[in-house]
Amino acid sequence: MQFPITRMRRLRRTEAMRSLVRETHLRPSALIYPLFVCPGEGVRRSISSMPGVFNLSIDEAVKEAEQCAELGIGGLLLFGLPSEKDEVGSGAYAADGIVQQGLRALKANRKLDSLVQIADVCLCEYTSHGHCGVLTRDGDHVHVENDASLPLLAKIAASLAEAGADIIAPSDMMDGRVAAMREAMDAAGKHDTPILSYAAKFASAFYGPFREAADSTPQAGDRRGYQMDAANTREAMREIEIDIAEGADMLLMKPAGPYLDIIRAARDRFDLPLGAYQVSGEYSMLHAAFERGWLDRNRAMLESLLSIRRAGADFIVTYFAKDAAKLLG
Ligand code: PBG
Repeated sequence: MQFPITRMRRLRRTEAMRSLVRETHLRPSALIYPLFVCPGEGVRRSISSMPGVFNLSIDEAVKEAEQCAELGIGGLLLFGLPSEKDEVGSGAYAADGIVQQGLRALKANRKLDSLVQIADVCLCEYTSHGHCGVLTRDGDHVHVENDASLPLLAKIAASLAEAGADIIAPSDMMDGRVAAMREAMDAAGKHDTPILSYAAKFASAFYGPFREAADSTPQAGDRRGYQMDAANTREAMREIEIDIAEGADMLLMKPAGPYLDIIRAARDRFDLPLGAYQVSGEYSMLHAAFERGWLDRNRAMLESLLSIRRAGADFIVTYFAKDAAKLLG
């Protein structure tokens, strides 16, 4: 039935009416806030390319986490800046590693029980060369060794689970890591700790600001030999299938905004809980426009998050988590 019988605008007349027929919703409990934990006390070091985001010592991270809990945010995603780096990233699996210590402090605080503590698993913040696995060199050429990296990644996963992580989230993109981590975690008695696999992680220019925040820029070469090519949807589906077969409990897609089609394809095809990571560059890009007054801050922020939910993500890792939660109140 066409105009004038059908008038689409009838249901858009008031906010009450629009709210009634709204198909997609944002809630604070489906937002995850990333934290960058660093050594020291009372440290709150700003990150120039990410306004409002800081490197935080553990005491400061706990304060930040308390705010997140009060705002009803769903959880935290923890990254660490170790005091020292080495060839094999041993700081990542040290029993007293920076994230391990952070997790113990966060888990000891009852006010934070409503937050799911997710630990990112990767080597790039801990290796002197900045790559996500073990490196071999052939003159100027560097190669990230897949199979030699697996035992290290598995050790990190078990160590973080033992320190109290509620979820382990591998972001390294080595083949076989999910199975290796599941085995190591089970051997450590952590059968009940789920794996949230960054199953489809693309080699993206949008990770630039994160590398300042996490001090994880590769010293030579880039990550295109292990992270996915931005052009490939079918390959992303294969990555996900394999991670599910290896024992992934949940999936994370990354980046989010420029890859909404991939999120939708994954949602239509797989039934596991699906998250998406609105990465550092997506945040910085919007902030740059906010600072110039080119975009309405609150509206653009919520619209960027709503789009990711509409594409099919159940939850979103975002640096806007606190700001968005305040607005959604
Ligand atoms: C570690 C890791 C990265 C991000 C999350 N985990 C950086 C990278 O792969 O270079 C990026 C997150 C962001 O940009 O916000 N491998």
